[in-house]
Amino acid sequence: MANAGIPIVEPKGKLGVLTVGLGAVATTMIAGVEAVRRKLALPIGSMTQMGTIRLGKRTEKRVPKIKDFVPLASLDDLVFGSWDLFTDNAYEAALKAGVLDNRLVEQLKDFLVTIQPMSAAFEQKWVKRLHPDNLKTGATKMDLAEQIMEDIRQFKKRSGADRLVIIWCASTELFTEPCPVHQTLEVFEEGLRTNSPDIPPSMLYAYAALKLGVPFANGAPHLTVDIPALTNLAIEKHIPICGKDFKSGQTFMKTLLAPGLKLKLLGLKGWFSTNILGNRDGEVLDDPENFKSKEETKSSVLERCIQPDIYPELYGSYFHKVRIEYYPPRGDAKESWDNLDIFGWLGYPMQIKVNFQCRDSILAAPMALDLVLFLDLAQRCPEMAKKGIQEWLSLYFKGPQVAAGLYPEHDVFIQVMKLKNTLRYLRGEELITHLGLEYYD
Ligand SMILES: NC(=O)c1ccc[n+]([C@@H]2O[C@H](COP(=O)([O-])OP(=O)(O)OC[C@H]3O[C@@H](n4cnc5c(N)ncnc54)[C@H](O)[C@@H]3O)[C@@H](O)[C@H]2O)c1
Repeated sequence: MANAGIPIVEPKGKLGVLTVGLGAVATTMIAGVEAVRRKLALPIGSMTQMGTIRLGKRTEKRVPKIKDFVPLASLDDLVFGSWDLFTDNAYEAALKAGVLDNRLVEQLKDFLVTIQPMSAAFEQKWVKRLHPDNLKTGATKMDLAEQIMEDIRQFKKRSGADRLVIIWCASTELFTEPCPVHQTLEVFEEGLRTNSPDIPPSMLYAYAALKLGVPFANGAPHLTVDIPALTNLAIEKHIPICGKDFKSGQTFMKTLLAPGLKLKLLGLKGWFSTNILGNRDGEVLDDPENFKSKEETKSSVLERCIQPDIYPELYGSYFHKVRIEYYPPRGDAKESWDNLDIFGWLGYPMQIKVNFQCRDSILAAPMALDLVLFLDLAQRCPEMAKKGIQEWLSLYFKGPQVAAGLYPEHDVFIQVMKLKNTLRYLRGEELITHLGLEYYD
């Protein structure tokens, strides 16, 4: 049933976008927005810019663009800031990342040089492969979090932004399980004051954001906001949060294929996924402890898509292996290979091979942009903001953040329906169920 529509405050003034990390993904997103603003290129891959949404019955032929259907901030109103471990401005960082054509980066140089990263909160043990030169110092983790809060206030003042969103586009930290210090805000804050070894830098940024009422998305696989202390803070203060780990390349393909196997009731004996990647992200992930964070999010999607508990004869005992190999010559041009050993009618074996020659940050940049714009939308909609966790954004993540005790939906077809039905609900349109009978009365 349609409702009367949910109140959403119009996006007035500038939206400040703060990226933690000014590496390949962040510079590709920022430079890309400017290229689109200057009409040098199209925002391909961005749901908020090019996506459409069907409304009402198929016979009504109402299919507006999403950006014309819900009140999103305009690209012209975005202003950018960042933190990074290195002092390179966005122009220098984009050249080093080597994702975009040098010619395009040169065309945007006057804009990119204005984005100079603020100094970072960092601790070497969480990312061993990088050796930074642009760091904050402080006696305690609370001191560092307070410095980040001051950075956020100063950025807001100097950029003239009315609203802010923060997105983690920084390196993957080493794997950690939720610990006692992550459980409540009280013990977490005590941990900040006493330098708990279980609080990584990413949690300092997330804590600072939430304390100041700024929505936060996490594009990497480590926990960050996905701990009770910070999730509850977001819910209490009505601040949208979401994560973890952009679902951009191989895992996106996996969550396209796996639901297909299940709907055809084809069995699975094994799925081997490997990648070669040569950018700084690949270098960080070459450390087994950092890779373990990625392995967790990359591996869990398959289990949820094929549901071995419900289909034991088909998926009860399959072998799943995921590898990432650091191979510098490739830079950002990642290549992935998947081999699926499957079986069909009467158990006869078959194989599927997928070779995806992608560009990691070209896939991730529009996702980062969409997350920023959708989180800002959620912040302007009190009914959404008060939920804290924005599960409707699951489509963007390998490890979607969901309410405690709930399993995440990984199937992309469910995820996209979830996202679009949420938008329909916000605007008081009928939800589309794809019931097979409705045109035949
Ligand atoms: N590109 C993709 O398709 C994709 C997909 C999923 C996840 N991711 C994740 O997105 C993140 C960014 O990827 P990328 O390719 O841009 O990596 P990158 O290495 O090019 O950039 C990351 C930047 O973060 C900075 N950094 C690290 N720790 C920091 C800290 N504590 N504070 C501030 N800055 C810090 C680094 O100096 C670096 O410049 C990675 O965690 C990656 O795993 C990327």
